[in-house]
Amino acid sequence: MEGNIPPTTTGNLQDYEVASKEFAWASVDKEFDWSQGSVYNVAYEAIDRHALNWRKNKIALYSIGASGELEKYTFGELSELSSKFADGLIKLGAKGGDRIFVYLDRTSELYMAMLGIVKMGGIAGPLFSALGPEAVKDRALDSGASIIITSENLYERLLPILDDLADLRKIIIVDGKEELARNCVAFEDIMESGDPNFQTVNMAPTDPYIIQYTSGSTGKPKGVLIGHRAMTQQYITARWVLDLREEDTYWCTADPGWITGTSYGIFGPWYLGTSVVSFEGRFDARTWYEILVNYGITVWYTAPTALRMLMRAGDDLVKEFNFDKLRHICSVGEPLNAEVIYWAMRVMNKRIHDTWWQTETGAHLICNYPCMTIRPGSMGKPIPGVIAGIVDEEGNEVPPGTEGHLALRPGWPSMMLGIYRNTPRFKEYFEIPGWYISGDLAYQDDDGYFWFLGRSDDVIVTAGGRLGPFEVESALIEHSAVAEAGVIGKPDELRGEIVKAFVTLRPGFKPSEELKKDITNFVKTRLAYYAYPREIEFVESLPKTRSGKIMRRVLKAMELGQPLGDLSTLED
Ligand code: WTA
Repeated sequence: MEGNIPPTTTGNLQDYEVASKEFAWASVDKEFDWSQGSVYNVAYEAIDRHALNWRKNKIALYSIGASGELEKYTFGELSELSSKFADGLIKLGAKGGDRIFVYLDRTSELYMAMLGIVKMGGIAGPLFSALGPEAVKDRALDSGASIIITSENLYERLLPILDDLADLRKIIIVDGKEELARNCVAFEDIMESGDPNFQTVNMAPTDPYIIQYTSGSTGKPKGVLIGHRAMTQQYITARWVLDLREEDTYWCTADPGWITGTSYGIFGPWYLGTSVVSFEGRFDARTWYEILVNYGITVWYTAPTALRMLMRAGDDLVKEFNFDKLRHICSVGEPLNAEVIYWAMRVMNKRIHDTWWQTETGAHLICNYPCMTIRPGSMGKPIPGVIAGIVDEEGNEVPPGTEGHLALRPGWPSMMLGIYRNTPRFKEYFEIPGWYISGDLAYQDDDGYFWFLGRSDDVIVTAGGRLGPFEVESALIEHSAVAEAGVIGKPDELRGEIVKAFVTLRPGFKPSEELKKDITNFVKTRLAYYAYPREIEFVESLPKTRSGKIMRRVLKAMELGQPLGDLSTLED
């Protein structure tokens, strides 16, 4: 099968062209209770307000444990539990604006904690549980986090770094053992001390509710601040892009350590009162199909790598299942291959809707909609209310078919408020006047569809998420055998890109398979399970600029057998 996939008539957004012409952000305001005088807070709109109407007894969260055990929470219950947690935090000494980290596997406590922090006016910092101690340390030091909520297991992992975290005052431990270290408190005790009637705090639209760490091509990960005002865009895209409705059961497979897992795994769907399914376990093709079918998932938001792995698991497996209930599928995070779209049409008779956005954008920007023809391989068109363009270095829009920077006119509601304690980095996104520069390269076709081409910097987009080569290089050179390291993303059929490291060794060390394994494990435990180099190549020297910067571009061109480009700054 080939060619474009025709639109359907059943989506929430009926006419893309009309909406793009007529839409105004202010029209979304009336959907929120704050427009009727309630407090302004994303957690209030996501949970509390539903607890005041008939949805009180509707299931908000199906939390499926790693081995399949199920917990269910209604909007009424989640409202109370998160209020207790919010009040418990205040009794522990937390204040509005505090950065409070949630370092947990995807269990129900993660949701209570995230909501509780936001309710009391804190800034929630969700950390992927695959992060290693060094990665947590970088983020905690950068943000000055005062409290970390974690589990007993993950707490053990933090022990080596705790002494370095000067701002950290308390650690809240889920299922904590009876005897806790001095600055640790049991999650249960926080809950017990909290008032279920705690009233969610009124915030300003430009107050941040979340600090989401993400990687750039230089330096350590950056804390992207998203404001309460993001709700406007998250709401309308949950309706138009995710196509969510009252009766839906929705599964977002992204971890809240990534922005997809918060904007669309927590807040977006709950503004609409949708029932959310969360799964703690890892990827497994059969298990995933079983969740889709057994829970009657109607809307599913996932990623290309997962879809490619499902495709690889074979047609026999997918044909064991009946996907009649599944109405709408979306994808995000990496380019969605046309083959995957054709596969889903063939085996499930479903369209997959690609969505493009970034941590910094807070919500969807360029997407596919049920009412629009899908051109497989294209990211789609800007959501109504957003202007996107392909521009050159001066900010001039280039003609269709021409490669350029994927850029946006700043000012969409969910745009980041800033980068925590890093204004210079924030300003870099706006260096080309009039535009926000995404760091992606793309082109637009004659009919206005956007097509992704790659990154303009060295950021690696891999199955595990976004990775900065500098972080991996920094971890590598802490290994006693490594003198220098240069890290690139190498194209990979399954994972989009994999991390490849070029390494020079210190005197006295010899290349060996053994050593590769040792270095790999070292990075895995320090940085994150997914951040290790899947390929290591020992080299005599690395290409460097005269000022001593490693030229990753040259490493990449060498790896891919491409022309080396301008080498005028090369050392020798
Ligand atoms: C890439 C995830 C192609 C892109 C929400 C972007 C994509 C980065 C797509 C942001 C897509 C995301 N097609 N590439 N549909 N979606 N990307 O911050 O390079 O984790 O800049 O946000 O992922 O990753 P982030």
